[in-house]
Amino acid sequence: MARPGILGVGASVPEKRLTNHDLEGMVSTSDEWITQRTGIRERRILREGEDPTVLGIEAAQGALTAAGLGAEEVELVITPSNVQIMPVPGSSALILSGLRVRDGPRANHVPFFDIVAGCTGFIYALEVARHMLYGGYRHILVIGLEALSRFTNWQERETCVLFGDGAGAVVVGTVEGERGILSSYLAAESAKWPLLQVEAGGTQLPASRETVAAGQHFLKMEGRGVFEEAVRMMEEASLRALEQAHVTKEEVAWYVPHQANLRILKAFARRLNIPWSKVLVNIDRYGNTSTASIPLALAEAVRDNRLRKGDLVVLAGFGAGVTYGASVIRW
Ligand code: COA
Repeated sequence: MARPGILGVGASVPEKRLTNHDLEGMVSTSDEWITQRTGIRERRILREGEDPTVLGIEAAQGALTAAGLGAEEVELVITPSNVQIMPVPGSSALILSGLRVRDGPRANHVPFFDIVAGCTGFIYALEVARHMLYGGYRHILVIGLEALSRFTNWQERETCVLFGDGAGAVVVGTVEGERGILSSYLAAESAKWPLLQVEAGGTQLPASRETVAAGQHFLKMEGRGVFEEAVRMMEEASLRALEQAHVTKEEVAWYVPHQANLRILKAFARRLNIPWSKVLVNIDRYGNTSTASIPLALAEAVRDNRLRKGDLVVLAGFGAGVTYGASVIRW
């Protein structure tokens, strides 16, 4: 049987490391607090003037190489992201133009769009790509691109210790046999959107001197509220996706939850009653990279040969909106 699946995965992170010790010199915090409360030791941050588009292009090229495809074979680009490189056009346009998709079947007519669905954006985009494949597309790039450091208030210790920059990409295409995306469950509790927001810069509060002075362009979050919802939502989504795929949680080789906080990942594993050794973790080195966190973890696990063909994998996420979801994939 042939069904949509992942043909290749790639990732890219900025060169600059920002350690907890570096943060000690910026806000009133400590390496001990950050490590104990979040599990993060360091994160990658774009330097001033560094263009996040490059991360998206590199991740996309990595995924294409892994899939054995050239850029000219891409037929659609979807970029789940919480940061826009520019308000208009979408980030996909800039990545696509950098990829130089010139000579393929659709030449200069490759369509694109961005998806804003919080940190669950990657799982949402994967599901959209799966359906577009049934609609006739053959190779779709899904690129989680984040540069949250540009929306972070570096004087607010509650948020600035959490996030990191990076990009992760997959090529979605048709795979044979038992492999492929077996199920997907998407959900949201939109009434809870105030838990995570950037207030200004849209029509509600257009950018002005006042909004800049009041710090309303920075990401704001109710940390504790998000924490509790995150664990419950990722558990629920995973169980529903497993049920839809007609597989048990014991058959799963790897769980890949969105990397927001090590304590959230541990609580997720406890609630599901799954061995901690089956959870892919990279938050210690990258922090919360939002829509890039799941493909980044996948790319690392493929590279070091932990994740192998035929493995059953569960992706689970939650994020601003409040969105959540999960996918079950036979790798
Ligand atoms: N360094 C030192 N102390 C800090 C701190 C920091 N970076 N950030 C907060 N604190 C302090 C608080 O001011 C508070 O002090 P108080 O007790 O004197 O009031 C204390 O630490 C405890 O704060 P609290 O918010 O209760 O801590 P927590 O255990 O809930 O951890 C988060 C805070 C943000 C790490 C945690 O709630 C979290 O990870 N939430 C989810 C966030 C998330 O995932 N967001 C993205 C979603 S995609």
